[in-house]
Amino acid sequence: MTQPPPAKAIVFSRDVLPILRPSCMGCHSGPTPASGYSMDTVAKLLAGGRHGAAVVPGKGAQSNLLRYCNGELKPKMPPSGALDKVQLGTLKRWIDEGAKIDSLVAATSLPQPLPSPETLVPRGEGRGARGGLAPVTALALSPNGKTLAVGGYRVVRLVDPLTGELQKTLTGCADQVQSLAWEASGERLAAAGGVPGESGEVAIFALASGKVEKTLTGHTDVVVSVAWRSGTDEIATGSLDKTTALWNVATGQRLRLLKDHADTVLAVVYSPSGEFLATASADRTAKLYRTKDGVRVAALNAHQDAIVRLAFSPDSKRLVTGSADKTVRIWSVKDGPIENPDATQYEAEALTACAFSPDNQRLFWVSASRKIKVFAANGRDYQLELGDATDWVTSLAATTDGKTLIAGTLDGKLFLWDLTTRKFLRSIESRAK
Ligand code: HEC
Repeated sequence: MTQPPPAKAIVFSRDVLPILRPSCMGCHSGPTPASGYSMDTVAKLLAGGRHGAAVVPGKGAQSNLLRYCNGELKPKMPPSGALDKVQLGTLKRWIDEGAKIDSLVAATSLPQPLPSPETLVPRGEGRGARGGLAPVTALALSPNGKTLAVGGYRVVRLVDPLTGELQKTLTGCADQVQSLAWEASGERLAAAGGVPGESGEVAIFALASGKVEKTLTGHTDVVVSVAWRSGTDEIATGSLDKTTALWNVATGQRLRLLKDHADTVLAVVYSPSGEFLATASADRTAKLYRTKDGVRVAALNAHQDAIVRLAFSPDSKRLVTGSADKTVRIWSVKDGPIENPDATQYEAEALTACAFSPDNQRLFWVSASRKIKVFAANGRDYQLELGDATDWVTSLAATTDGKTLIAGTLDGKLFLWDLTTRKFLRSIESRAK
């Protein structure tokens, strides 16, 4: 039986990226891509390599990308094994329809991980090393430090943060889990995601039963970030539909819709004190709100490109913004306008994750260069660099004692380092099933 091609328009992150990531990017990415052709950014993917433009929008049959894959140009791509008819049809339709890039990818300029389960399960020869492992797209350590929530495709795995041993699997998320947030009591966990270009949602899990207690719907695009206001039933969601929403998780009601950003909202975070909410956007700005009356007290305007990550220090005094402009900025938070950051650190590539250690001693961040930087919590004093991750690090978490750092990667692994001895401890594979 042949599978009919999907009737709806091709969505790059949902339909195309899951073909390119496992089959092509093993060779066409990183510092020395095959034939000078890198798929690390959208611009490079379209531009091609030694043989010129890979994608001619509107003209699939004339695009090198397709001509190498269907065997018209030699050597046939991928060199071992071949794409099947459905995959070739998808690539051609994507180019024929104008090679459009959807919001989830365009927002960060990095190819975001949005695998479909079919492409991640190995289907015979020629699959990349990524086959079988679901990307880790979010990490969140439980308030008591004993459970690490790991976001994957439609599931959240609860694992022991030191051994990686599976404690429980939570199911009921709409799509790839983009962000996770624990309630301060550890009784509930919010998992955000959605379908690109269609809808965003948050599943609220009750940990005792492991079941979805409430599903919050209403966003018209993926929810990429979720935060839980300490000691309350309030959560905040940041969506590619350009809005931030505040919700009551007990009633499932939306309390407020904030439309202060001109582009996709990529990160939301509450100060641990609950006093402030910060939001960050592809519009290059971050905003700070006072939670008690909802007043916007500050706009942070120093970045030259999308702000993709936010982190609040455990003492609620500092906010960190990580950007596609290859910088990290550390801001002192106060109840009023904030002019300049306290510190700016420069990276080789766009930022992909940042986090404080729960003991308020350290600040970690990582860019697409995959090298994790460890700084003192002031963001000024460099301590060390950890560089063994095998793919982009999407998320970082330190254990409660501040001794172990855990990184989640796109190729579906958790990497653990001992921060005291500076030694790499182990990597743990996050199984798709
Ligand atoms: C095992 C490594 C490997 C994999 C996997 C691979 N390629 Fe390639 N690719 C190459 C090499 C080597 C060349 C150069 C071929 C030559 O011209 O001799 C190349 C060349 C190309 C080119 C021409 C680029 C230019 O302008 O020079 C395109 C387009 C391309 N590949 C697309 C793909 C696509 C699409 C996939 C996945 C479906 C893929 N490749 C998978 C190794 C790979």
